[in-house]
Amino acid sequence: MANEERSRTDVALSHEAAQVKSAEAIRAIPSVLTEFRCPTCGKVFGSYANLQYHYADEHPEFVVPETIVLHINGKDCEVLVEPHWTLQRTLQFRLDLTGAKHMCGKGACGSCTVIIDGRAVLSCITLAVECVGKSITTIEGIAANPKWKPLVDAYCKWDAMQCGYCTPGFLVTAKALLDKNPDPSEDEIREALSGNICICGTYPRHTTAILEAAPQIAAGG
Ligand code: FES
Ligand code: FES
Repeated sequence: MANEERSRTDVALSHEAAQVKSAEAIRAIPSVLTEFRCPTCGKVFGSYANLQYHYADEHPEFVVPETIVLHINGKDCEVLVEPHWTLQRTLQFRLDLTGAKHMCGKGACGSCTVIIDGRAVLSCITLAVECVGKSITTIEGIAANPKWKPLVDAYCKWDAMQCGYCTPGFLVTAKALLDKNPDPSEDEIREALSGNICICGTYPRHTTAILEAAPQIAAGG
């Protein structure tokens, strides 16, 4: 197989795999909780009321976790969280959405970026309880949506990643930019991505990939 052909096939397979995996991850999130696991000792209860009794009896010194409903990737999901849990931690450990990465944990690297009500937001410094009633989009929601295939394809084509740990944060930031500005200049892309840090140093390739994908996305793929 010619190199060009092989690379085209690899790109298609990569995007398809990401799309299928992301759609499955979103589908697997239960809308309503049917069991309530104590975050302190791991015991499981069939109702929230029983978890509350358990806290009163066995962990009276701790704050009782709360059930909240988050609207994530177009879906309402009931989640049990402790009041101090960040959105990043909740996505990873309660909903198995592992795309928003924990790197610095201090709001300095952009690896945990998600979109909340249209704005790119750092989920490591956002409390989950603050997000009730808001619309959250994660990298899984972007990857599962065919509209964003040109962006994922361009990232694959231009190898805009090495270890890949920071890549979801860049893609989410790029999506937030393109929603507001479908035809960004190179400088505007650099400015939008300025809060995203890549330890592997892939910076120039992000701009190239986004410049290539932008007109395709604007034209409907
Ligand atoms: S992990 Fe959130 S900004 Fe670095
Ligand atoms: S590709 Fe490794 S941190 Fe960015």
